[in-house]
Amino acid sequence: MKIEKDKSLKEMTTFKIGGNAQFFCIIEKEEDIVEAVKFAKENNLRFFVLGGGSNILVSDKGFGGLVMKMEMKGIDFNGGVVSVKAGEDWDNFVGETVSRDLYGLENLSLIPGTCGAAPVQNIGAYGSEVKDTIVSVRALDSKKMEFRDFSNPDCEFEYRNSLFKREAGRYVISSVIFNLKKNGEVNTDYKDIAEYFLLKGIMRPSLKDVREAVVHIRTNKLPDVKVLGTAGSFFKNPILAHGQANELKKRFPELPVYPFSDENVKVSLAWILDHVCGFKGATKGNVGTYKNQALVLVNNGGATANEIKSFAHELARAVQEKTGIEVEAEIQYVGE
Ligand code: EPU
Repeated sequence: MKIEKDKSLKEMTTFKIGGNAQFFCIIEKEEDIVEAVKFAKENNLRFFVLGGGSNILVSDKGFGGLVMKMEMKGIDFNGGVVSVKAGEDWDNFVGETVSRDLYGLENLSLIPGTCGAAPVQNIGAYGSEVKDTIVSVRALDSKKMEFRDFSNPDCEFEYRNSLFKREAGRYVISSVIFNLKKNGEVNTDYKDIAEYFLLKGIMRPSLKDVREAVVHIRTNKLPDVKVLGTAGSFFKNPILAHGQANELKKRFPELPVYPFSDENVKVSLAWILDHVCGFKGATKGNVGTYKNQALVLVNNGGATANEIKSFAHELARAVQEKTGIEVEAEIQYVGE
């Protein structure tokens, strides 16, 4: 395994933003993970595992430490039990499962990134979360220097969160095992999906139809990361107590509110940014919110991390002033 110095990270992120990694290596097998983490420890360096770079904002000053680019490949099908290496592309993997008539991941089609990153923030879309199909996650615990298989409850999944995100810098995921259904049922309850099939006149959509629907909806609503710099939703949807949500509903009757838990509901931040703050399609210098989705920040060309950060700060302040909600970043900040 080769360790390089001063490697530019910009092109390895979907925001197309960021400085250099002080040290950089490519991970192709579990032994590489051990070797890389040992190198980091011996040299007193932090490390960061880079997947598809689709949910991060790398600082303009870069990352003072070791960046490990995850490129472990391989998918192993054993009936509905599927094991995938961390460096496989997520959407390619979803495509493979759908083509084998395995149900469970179709609503998560076209999410950018790698399979190893999926459990970290418990990716979710259109009424599905990846936690619903994960059996276990295999990762190196860099503290104990041993590999461990984390069962689903061990991963402590929450909305866009997990043990691996909370203890960032401790674990390096090498593979994930899913349990998918042979004769499953599709979930078309999410508004956008239900509307798509209504419009197409499809009453009993197949698994492949659902993947097609999600691809169609995402293509229309979200920017293509190959064309426009972005990391998808920049903030999480806020989780509020029923009382606070009811107060907001009185002021903004149209505000979308989703069930979350006994005590809390989830409200749509995209809707607030759009209809309360008027930020949909807003631009400032080289950055802005996407024309079709106000929760998505975009690099319109040549933006710096600082520009994105200060724009995000401005949005957060406006939301706070108008609604009292403290927003939380969904993307991960990397570097100084
Ligand atoms: N809306 C607006 N204005 C906008 C965008 C949306 O009013 O500019 C309204 C929509 O009409 C809808 C509601 O807001 O009533 C929710 O919008 P959407 O369906 O686009 O979903 P979201 O809550 O904004 C979440 C995820 C997305 C995921 C979609 C679809 C988070 C932080 N984001 O967005 O995930 O694709 O649901 O399920 O939970 C990501 O994490 O990067 C991501 C893109």
